[in-house]
Amino acid sequence: MSSTLINNARIATANEDGDFVHIDATQILLREGKIKAIGNHITDTADHVVDADQQWCLPGFIDCHTHLVYGGNRANEFTQRLQGVNYETISQQGGGIKSTVRATRALDEDTLMLQTLRRARRFAEEGVTTIEIKSGYGLDKETEIRMLEVAHKVGELTGLNVQRTFLGAHALPPDSPMSAEEYIDFVCQTMIPYVAEHQLADAVDVFCERVGFNLAQTERVFMAAKQANLRVKGHVEQLSDSKGAALAAKYRALSVDHIEYLAEEDVHLLASAGTVAVLLPGAFYYLKEKQLPPIDALRQHRVPMAISTDMNPGTSPIASLLTCTNMACILFGLTTSEALAGITIHAAGALGLANKGRLKQGFDADVCLWDIESPESLVYEINGYRPTAIWIGGKRVL
Ligand code: NIG
Ligand code: FE
Repeated sequence: MSSTLINNARIATANEDGDFVHIDATQILLREGKIKAIGNHITDTADHVVDADQQWCLPGFIDCHTHLVYGGNRANEFTQRLQGVNYETISQQGGGIKSTVRATRALDEDTLMLQTLRRARRFAEEGVTTIEIKSGYGLDKETEIRMLEVAHKVGELTGLNVQRTFLGAHALPPDSPMSAEEYIDFVCQTMIPYVAEHQLADAVDVFCERVGFNLAQTERVFMAAKQANLRVKGHVEQLSDSKGAALAAKYRALSVDHIEYLAEEDVHLLASAGTVAVLLPGAFYYLKEKQLPPIDALRQHRVPMAISTDMNPGTSPIASLLTCTNMACILFGLTTSEALAGITIHAAGALGLANKGRLKQGFDADVCLWDIESPESLVYEINGYRPTAIWIGGKRVL
């Protein structure tokens, strides 16, 4: 594999404390897919030498929570919600997740692939080098597997590093005679062992909510995942304080996502479990939510905060991670440094990726160059910039 030496760069990255800082170095050497060295006096020869001409060199961004693979769209529900019908009501009337399940099941693999690829390219264009993609719009064996296979192929075709999450426990399948308990039996006894055996996913997720699955059902899924040696994460405390975050912490979840209704007294459990708080301001915005996630308590307990798009056709049809960093600042009160750490080091943490999300010797060589005044510009402006060069695993893709 070839090597690249980038000279004359301004380099910024999160440090070990999670602060996103400008570091005292102008050169970065990529070799064998890794960051080999960062410094000011690197004299190694490399196959490619790039003059960054004072552009900023940042780690590739990581979107740690997306539902990128789906069929159809839910513009009709958007219209209904604008007229005052709420998300839970639409869901109880058979719309919501169930309507996307019907549309996803109806697509063959090639069509699903093409539609997903178009969305994936939006993320790649904006400097995302790693993306998590969930299943959860199939809710039967065949379609869940198809979604996870499409997610894998997205990685092969775009060069993006794709992390896959099995979200069989997203909703009760539409038109199914199964009770919630019977469906959870199927998820735990059939799907999770199959997904693990065929290495179709890196983690298991659950929608723990009134319109999703209850705490006991969520725990069954977490136990089955643990038995299959898969890490867990959870859609929790999005619409109500259902105590999903505390349960997730008990299972040392990689992340708890949404968490607008997370009780302050439960925050310390996340800190002890090393669980990342994933903020999804896009869903907050689309649902016109008023309840804010407990940001100050998360800060006080030093719980790492990641930011993600939650890209999905219902609650967050936003194919722009940088837009979501801006929303996290404006809507949730994050600082720009927290926002940039939230799509790099902490997003890596939410996926259990110890070698990604920072510019540091030994880390994966996922790197972008940006022609900007300063890194904050990317959070401050919406749709202002695209990277001028991108390397994923040391390979130049732009
Ligand atoms: O992250 N909360 C559950 N899942 C998605 C929404 C999925 C949908 O409405 O299609 C979310 O918001
Ligand atoms: Fe989600």
